Amino acid sequence: MTYIPAETRYDSMPYRRCGKSGVMLPAISLGLWHNFGNITPFGVQQSLLRTAFDNGITHFDLANNYGPPYGEAERNFGVHMLRDWKPHRDELIISSKAGYDMWKGPYGDHGSRKYLIASIDQSLKRMNVDYVDIFYHHRPDPDTPIEETMGALDQIVRSGKALYVGISNYRPEQAAVAIKTLRELGTPCLIHQPSYSMFNRWIEDGLTDVLRENGVGCICFAPLQNGLLTNRYINGIPADSRAAHDPRYLKPDAITAEKIEKVRALSGIAKQRGQALSQMALAWVLRDPVVTSALIGASRPEQIIENVKALDAAPFTAEELAAIDAILAK
Ligand SMILES: NC(=O)c1ccc[n+]([C@@H]2O[C@H](COP(=O)([O-])OP(=O)(O)OC[C@H]3O[C@@H](n4cnc5c(N)ncnc54)[C@H](OP(=O)(O)O)[C@@H]3O)[C@@H](O)[C@H]2O)c1
Repeated sequence: MTYIPAETRYDSMPYRRCGKSGVMLPAISLGLWHNFGNITPFGVQQSLLRTAFDNGITHFDLANNYGPPYGEAERNFGVHMLRDWKPHRDELIISSKAGYDMWKGPYGDHGSRKYLIASIDQSLKRMNVDYVDIFYHHRPDPDTPIEETMGALDQIVRSGKALYVGISNYRPEQAAVAIKTLRELGTPCLIHQPSYSMFNRWIEDGLTDVLRENGVGCICFAPLQNGLLTNRYINGIPADSRAAHDPRYLKPDAITAEKIEKVRALSGIAKQRGQALSQMALAWVLRDPVVTSALIGASRPEQIIENVKALDAAPFTAEELAAIDAILAK
């Protein structure tokens, strides 16, 4: 059936400026790392994308190797693009990345110009788009000169294959060099994509300062710690959860009694705030305006509907933030 987006889609989602740029991103964005490969029915994928857009999520994040198998999330997205999204292309920010292993041999990994240019060409074909809005270098490559990697990003923008570029997983000092190099090339770095959640606070140790000083936006991935910062695992590991059916990155033995105790305590604070834990976890990463967007994953539309209400509650009080810090420090 032809998809007709909800008339109300722009009514409640806050849009936040991405660093010092002209781009506004939704406070909550949707990533296609999980649930868009060949193990998820096409109809489920379609309802996740439609639910997201109907609720104001205008940003979909992909990478060359999202699947399984590698490339499959982009290939599936390409079919969704033809069926649902072509008429709405200008309402969307679509991103992709290259930097991890993608194809065999010496040219399908890391940060060479050879790899990045070939990869964006493949991604555009798979996704049935003429350009992506943001193209990222997915992780730093210590063995390729930064001028080469950033030069490739600059070339990708100048050739019209991406409108903006970003970096992901770069440490503060690496990010500072990449941002400076891009600026000198005349293609400013739009955004950094680091991991960040209540259980993973590394970006507070220097990275957010670099981004603030340079006017670069920030989109945090895995703000729910792969689902751990929700009510999903409070009473064990459900069979349909990521830890049970796709434990590549959230291994069941990482869900310790200690972690669940913290999750329960955090859940108590969320309840007092009138929120679900997932909503509080998202509001928490967004409490610093340097964070433009929280990049979630979802396995069912109801999770998206719950998560987009993250900013409905009142801002955190100093007491609430201190209570959260105390739980996390235990
Ligand atoms: N740049 C990078 O290196 C990098 C690395 C990783 C991820 N990413 C990006 O970040 C995106 C998000 O990563 P992520 O999926 O790990 O993020 P996440 O938001 O931390 O975890 C998402 C998972 O949490 C569960 N969940 C979500 N909302 C829920 C709710 N309201 N209640 C209960 N459970 C809920 C679902 O798992 P169940 O399956 O258990 O339902 C969902 O798949 C990726 O898709 C990708 O775009 C980037």
